[in-house]
Formats: sequence, C-alpha cells, structure tokens
Amino acid sequence: MSPSNCVGGLGYDVDMKSELFEKFLELLPTGALVVDLGAGDGKWSEKLVEAGHRTIAVEKKEVKSPNGNIDWQNMAVADWLESLPDDFVADGYWLKNVLQFLDKEFVLKKFLPALHNHIHKNGVIAIETFTKSPDPEFAKNHPSYYRTDELERVFKDWEIIWSEEVEKIGRDMKGRERKFFLTRFLVKK
Ligand SMILES: C[S@@+](CC[C@H](N)C(=O)[O-])C[C@H]1O[C@@H](n2cnc3c(N)ncnc32)[C@H](O)[C@@H]1O
Repeated sequence: MSPSNCVGGLGYDVDMKSELFEKFLELLPTGALVVDLGAGDGKWSEKLVEAGHRTIAVEKKEVKSPNGNIDWQNMAVADWLESLPDDFVADGYWLKNVLQFLDKEFVLKKFLPALHNHIHKNGVIAIETFTKSPDPEFAKNHPSYYRTDELERVFKDWEIIWSEEVEKIGRDMKGRERKFFLTRFLVKK
C-alpha cells in the first residue's frame, strides 16, 4: 500500500470529511502541537496546519511532495517513539487508519501507554481503525484489529469522549461495495 492510496478506497474518507476529526479539532487548544502518526501523504496533517496547529507527521514511507509546513519524520512509529526525548509533550495525537498495520501487542502494551507520558494535561488522542469484520475477504492485509473495550482499558484513567464500533458501507480497492466495521475512539487526559 502506498501513502497515496490511503485516502480513498477500503472505507477511508475519500472526501476528507470526518466527524472524529472535527471533534478532535474542537478539543485542541489554539496553536497546538499535534502528531499525525502514519500520516500517509499528509492530507490530515495539512488540515491540522490550516487550522493553525504545529504538526509533526510520522510516516515510514517516503512522501513524494511533502508539504513544507509540516514537520515530516520519515520513520516507523516505533523508531519515532524510541527517538523521543523524555520531556517531549504534544497536545494531540491523530491516528487515522494506522493502528491496523502495527503489531497489536506493541500498540496496546507499549506504544499507547507510552503516549501517556508524552501528552499535556487535557491533551487528546483520536484513533480510527478497524474492528474485525465478519467478512473473511475483508482487508486481509491488516495484522491487527481493535475493539473499543481493549482501547478503553489502556485509557482507563482518561475521559472517554467517543468510543464506538460502527458499520459503514464503502467500496473496496476493486470498487466492490462492502461493509466496514470501524473502531472510533477519542480520549482526553
Ligand atoms: C491507510 S494509510 C493512512 C494514512 C493517513 N493516516 C490517512 O488516514 O489518510 C496508512 C499509513 O500508515 C503508514 N504506516 C504503516 N505502518 C507504519 C509504521 N509502522 N510507521 C509509520 N507509518 C506506518 C503507511 O505507510 C501508510 O502511509
């Protein structure tokens, strides 16, 4: 999968409309520092910059025309985490359609817990990923699926603002109509 085909297809938001993103923006302070993890070609990062936020985009693939207003970190999420100084803190983390590509044990036991130490009080984390679909043909390339209760356990001391598993109709890469099962999650520290 190349970054450019992430926005569109497979139930992603072709039109760049996302209620979760709107809600995430509402909760960020003015001029926030936001990290877009698994940023793809940076479409969501661009929106964050347009909204006046300093934006770090972590993406393991090389991006063809990187927007110069974004602080690009061309590396894997795990390497980025390792490279962080202990005192690094952001106001928000945007994780749209990336967790399904990462190792689930790493995500639930190491990565998400580590973000607890790298976020300001009142900071927000937004996640959109997939719940396992009952359709055996669905997105075989995803190593990990997440239920809301698994995420809620990781953020048990946080304010849960949005936590849902939702069915959505969309088209897959071959243009076939499919049901998708999304996990959407938004928490505030
Ligand atoms: C489906 S795309 C989503 C892109 C963007 N977040 C969006 O919603 O449009 C997933 C992106 O995550 C990136 N990715 C996957 N595993 C990664 C990892 N371990 N570290 C950094 N980026 C990763 C992929 O290269 C790809 O660009």
